[in-house]
Amino acid sequence: MNSSQKTGFTCWLTGLSGAGKSTLATALSDALVGQQVAHELLDGDVVRTNLSKGLGFSREDRDTNVLRVGFVCSLLNKHSINTIVALISPYEETRAKLRAMLPGFIEIYVNCPLDVCIERDPKGLYRRAIAGEIPEFTGISSPYEPPNSPEIIVSTHQETVEESVDKILNYLSTHCFL
Ligand code: ADX
Repeated sequence: MNSSQKTGFTCWLTGLSGAGKSTLATALSDALVGQQVAHELLDGDVVRTNLSKGLGFSREDRDTNVLRVGFVCSLLNKHSINTIVALISPYEETRAKLRAMLPGFIEIYVNCPLDVCIERDPKGLYRRAIAGEIPEFTGISSPYEPPNSPEIIVSTHQETVEESVDKILNYLSTHCFL
């Protein structure tokens, strides 16, 4: 690596299924494209069809998934490629490992009450999980541990996508990431 290269940042969006992580990640990516900021977007649903294909939703498999994506971020960040990640990443201890391995780690809590996520149910998964058809479903039969001290909190039941993205962009510019 060229010593003059700046380490990239990782905007890590954590939150319940249906909280709006993918929507925000895509909107943030579009904004960074507009500013010609080099980055890669890693979304849970996509990652699980290739990089993490075959992994399930036990704690061990989720941790493997999360740390695998963290490893990819570390490689990209090292070469000044910023990353945006949208993964439930439900465990605080595992997210602390990400923080330790990524110098530009920015934890973004995509906050949305469980009852609102159940109401939205964009993929119909909550209905199936509540009916007992999907085991270990986050928020229903598997835990979600909200971050203790995230860099940014966006509340998708109270803010528009644009407001949440602006909050993230403001953080990035005030902390000299952009
Ligand atoms: S994580 O816990 O390992 O970070 P990840 O974000 O990759 O999860 O995948 C979550 C996506 O997988 C959800 O948005 C949903 O579409 C799907 N999914 C399928 N089964 C489950 C489950 N048991 N719990 C949570 N999400 C599930």
